[in-house]
Amino acid sequence: MFSALNASASKDQTVPRHVAIVMDGNGRWAKRRFMPRGMGHKAGVDALVTVVQAAADRGIGFLTVFAFSSENWKRPEEEVSGLMSLLIVALSKHLTKLRTDGVQIRVVGDLAGVSPKVRQALLDACEATAHNERLVLTVAFNYGGRWDVLQACRRIVADGLSPDRIDEATMSRYMAMSYAPDPDLFIRTGGEVRLSNFLLWQSAYAELVFTDCLWPDFDGRELDKALETFRRRERRFGDVGQDDEPPASGLAVNTPGN
Ligand code: FPP
Repeated sequence: MFSALNASASKDQTVPRHVAIVMDGNGRWAKRRFMPRGMGHKAGVDALVTVVQAAADRGIGFLTVFAFSSENWKRPEEEVSGLMSLLIVALSKHLTKLRTDGVQIRVVGDLAGVSPKVRQALLDACEATAHNERLVLTVAFNYGGRWDVLQACRRIVADGLSPDRIDEATMSRYMAMSYAPDPDLFIRTGGEVRLSNFLLWQSAYAELVFTDCLWPDFDGRELDKALETFRRRERRFGDVGQDDEPPASGLAVNTPGN
């Protein structure tokens, strides 16, 4: 069986090890069908289940989805409580299949800020799938990239690390997704072109793909289109491109990463 752990050690860079997705467009999907926004979120869950399977089939080891952001509390109370209930229903409906399909569920976010019922449902799903290795599905819930940087800083201070011992590797170890490689591919559906506070530290060198496709319409074919775009990109990590000539004089040019 394909293992997410093996994938993170793989040298095959044509398939991203880690894909992060902002699942946007549920509300508009519903509105176009004269349905309440909640129906869009419900269809969004079905799309997520399809995409998890598609990602695992394509050898992606880590899939991280933005299910509820720190800012989503600003939505009408009815929509927020609908999303909370939907999460519980979705987990109870799909957990058995996800578990037998080898999906390990993990959660990142400020769980102290959600109801005990929602927190318990998430933690139970994590526990029930902890031994799976085919694909790690991380659900970002009550998550924000700035929250993540802050919680890392707070824990570093609480652990009493001296400033000279703190480098990028230290920060990465304290970030919520320390168990995963950084995202190689960051997809946002729904036509907006912004990061919306998702995985800010971790996505420093991710390839960004924005699509007009609304999340409930996103499926294996749409994922393949994003993967094809990823394959065509030249990842430079701040280095020069393969076709570029080296600096003429051999002078060290200290340019910011591209
Ligand atoms: C953004 O679409 C989507 C969300 C805020 C929630 C995403 C949630 C799911 C896909 C369902 C799975 C997660 C849970 C919590 C069960 P939007 O509502 O902003 O769409 P719009 O931009 O068209 O209004």
